[in-house]
Amino acid sequence: MTETEAKQKIQKLSKEINQHNYNYYTLSESTISDYEFDMMLEELIRLEQEFPQFADKNSPTQRVGGEITKVFEPVKHRYPMLSLSNSYSREEIIEFENRIKKIIENSLEYVCELKYDGVAIGITYIDGNLFRAVTRGDGVQGDDITANIKTIKSIPLKLQGNDYPKEFEIRGEIFIPKNTFEKLNREREEIGEQLYANARNTASGTIKMQDSSVVAQRGLDSYLYFVLGEKLPFKTHLESIEKAKEWGFKVPTLHNNMIKCCKSIEEIVSFIDYWDKNRNQLNFEIDGVVIKVNNYQQQEELGFTAKSPKWAIAYKFKAEKVKTKLLEITYQVGRTGAITPVANLQPVFLAGTTVKRASLHNADQIEKLDIRIGDEVYVEKGGEIIPKIVGVEITQRDIFSQPTKYITHCPECNTLLLRTEGDAKHYCPNEWTCPPQVKGKIQHFISRKAMNIDGLGDETIEQLYNSGLISKSSDLYFLTAEQLLPLERMAEKSVNNMLSGIESSKNIPFERVLFAIGIRFVGETVAKKLAKHFKNMDSLAAACYEELIEADEIGEKIAHSILNFFKTENNTSEIEKLKSVGLQFSLSEQQLENSSNKLNGLTFVVSGVFSLFSRDELKNKIELNGGKVVGSISKKTNYVVAGENMGPSKLEKANELGIQIIDENQFVSML
Ligand code: IVH
Repeated sequence: MTETEAKQKIQKLSKEINQHNYNYYTLSESTISDYEFDMMLEELIRLEQEFPQFADKNSPTQRVGGEITKVFEPVKHRYPMLSLSNSYSREEIIEFENRIKKIIENSLEYVCELKYDGVAIGITYIDGNLFRAVTRGDGVQGDDITANIKTIKSIPLKLQGNDYPKEFEIRGEIFIPKNTFEKLNREREEIGEQLYANARNTASGTIKMQDSSVVAQRGLDSYLYFVLGEKLPFKTHLESIEKAKEWGFKVPTLHNNMIKCCKSIEEIVSFIDYWDKNRNQLNFEIDGVVIKVNNYQQQEELGFTAKSPKWAIAYKFKAEKVKTKLLEITYQVGRTGAITPVANLQPVFLAGTTVKRASLHNADQIEKLDIRIGDEVYVEKGGEIIPKIVGVEITQRDIFSQPTKYITHCPECNTLLLRTEGDAKHYCPNEWTCPPQVKGKIQHFISRKAMNIDGLGDETIEQLYNSGLISKSSDLYFLTAEQLLPLERMAEKSVNNMLSGIESSKNIPFERVLFAIGIRFVGETVAKKLAKHFKNMDSLAAACYEELIEADEIGEKIAHSILNFFKTENNTSEIEKLKSVGLQFSLSEQQLENSSNKLNGLTFVVSGVFSLFSRDELKNKIELNGGKVVGSISKKTNYVVAGENMGPSKLEKANELGIQIIDENQFVSML
C-alpha cells in the first residue's frame, strides 16, 4: 500500500467508525454487526501502526484508553462553572418568573430540561477536534481529564458538519447508566468487593481514575446541555442544542419530551409533573428539572449573581418517601461471610416498584435508627438502587416494644459471628461449611468469567450441594452420570452437557483459574497481572510479601489476602485436588515461549507509536519478560522505550533525570 492509499484508507475507516459509534451510542441505532465493527477497528489499528505518520490523536482507536494520568493537571476555566439556584415548589417558580419580569418586558419563553444526576464536565473543541475536557473543580479551576473523557463513546472526538465555531466549550453531565451500574455491582459482588452505593459517586470516582483503559470499560455516558464561546451564531438556547445535535453531541430531543419549550408556568409545572412520575423509566438518574430562559439576548440582560445565572433555575424532585410497617428483620450471609440485616416490610408501592425489603446495612445502622419490629418506618428511594429506611415514627410505637438485639450467631450455620475493628459488618468465619459461603464459592468458580462451565448454573449448584454431591469446587470433577441422572430435572442430555462442560473447563487458561479459586480481592484484572508475573501457581503460593508487591498493581491489601489464602490448609488441599484433576496451573506453552526473566527488576515507560508492535503488545512483552510498566517517568524508571511522536514533556523529563531512552529495536535486542 502506498502512503497516499494508506492515508486515504485511514481517513475513510476513521470516518466510518465514528459514524457507527455515533449511530450506536448517541442515536441508539445499530447499523453494523459487532464483528464487522471489530474488524474495521482492527484494520485501522493495524494501519495506524504501519503508518504512524497518519495516526490522529483523536482517532477512534483512542477510545480504548491506555493513557495513565498520575496527576491531573489543574486548568482554569475560561468561563467559571457556576451552579444553579434550587426550587422545590410551584410558588418558587412563580417567584423566579416575577424576578425575571422586573427586568424583561418582552414576552418570555422557557426551555425545560432534565436535571441529570451526574458529574459536570466542560469540553473544549478547536477546529472540530476535541481539545480538552475539564472537571468542575471549585468552579474557577478544574482538573484536565481529557484522556478519560475520550473513552466515552457518546462524546465526539471529531465534530460532524462544518458550521461549528472555530473554538467553543460545551458543558454537560457524565453518568453511568442504571443498567451498566447494576452490572458493575454484580461483578463486584462476584469478587466479594463492597458494592458501590450509588451511580453518581461511582461516575465521579471513575472520571478521576488514573488508567483510562479502566474508564473505557466502565460504560460512562453523557448528555450535553450548554454551549459557550465568543460570538456564538445562535439566538436561542434551543437553537444551540439543535446545532450541538448536528455536530454529533448527545443532547435531549423534543420528540420524547426530554426537552420542551414552555410559555407559561402551567406548561412548566406539567413538564415537572410528567418527569416526577416517569423518571423511573429512564436508564439514567435525574434529580429534577432545569428551567432556562430560551432567548440569548434576554439571558444576557438578566446576567448572573455571584453563584448562578439569573436566567435559569433548578427544580429538585423530593426523594420519594412512603410509610410502612417493619414486619421482621432477617439476616443474609453473603459469599464472603458478610452479614447484612434486611428489613422485611409490609409491601408498599414506591418509585415505580413494590418494595418488600430494604437493607439495614449493619448493626450500627439499626442502633442509630433504633428500629424495632412492628415500627412504622419511612422508606425512601433516592439515587441509591436499594431503598433505604430513613426514619422511624416513634409516636406510633407500641409501648411494650423492645430494642432490636443484633444476632450473635450465624443464621445459617450457628457459628459465633466476628466483627473486626474498623469493619462495619459482622462476619461468619466458617467459610468451609457455612452453606451460603460454600455455594457462593462454587457459583463463583463456575461463573462465566471464571471457569465458564457450560450446562451448570447457580440453581444446579444449589441442587448438587443440597443433595450432598458437592461441597467444594473440586468435587465437580469427580461427578458421574450415575450420580446425576437420579436427580430431579436431570435428563441424559443435560447430564452429558454438564459433564462435558466440566471436562472442557480443564483447558481454561491459568489466569482464569486463578480468578475462579476466589482469593479475596483478586478480581479478573488482578488475576491476569498475577498470572503474568508469577507464571504458575507454585511460585505465586511461595511468594513472600515483598515479592507480591513487586508485581504490577499489587498493593498491601491484595498481598495480605494472597498470603492468608495460601496459609490456610483447606485452600492448599483444594488447590492440590484441582491440580490433580488437570486444571491449568501455569501459563500455556505459547505464553511461556514468549516469556523470560530477562527484564526482572527493570521498570519501563512506554511512549509514542511503534512499528513492530502495538503499544499494548509492547507492554505485554515487557511484563511477560519480568519487567514492570509504569505510566510516568520518575527516578525509579530504568528505560523509556520511545516510538514515533513521543510526548515532548516525557522526553524532557527523561533527559532531566538522565534516564536511558531506547527505541523498539534496542528493546528487542535486550530480549
Ligand atoms: S445548565 C450556569 N442544565 O446541575 C449553569 N445544568 O445544580 C448552567 N445539571 O452545575 C448549568 N442537568 O452540573 C444545566 N440540564 C441541565 C443540567 C445541569 C444537570 C447540573 C450542572 C449544574 C448543576 C447545578
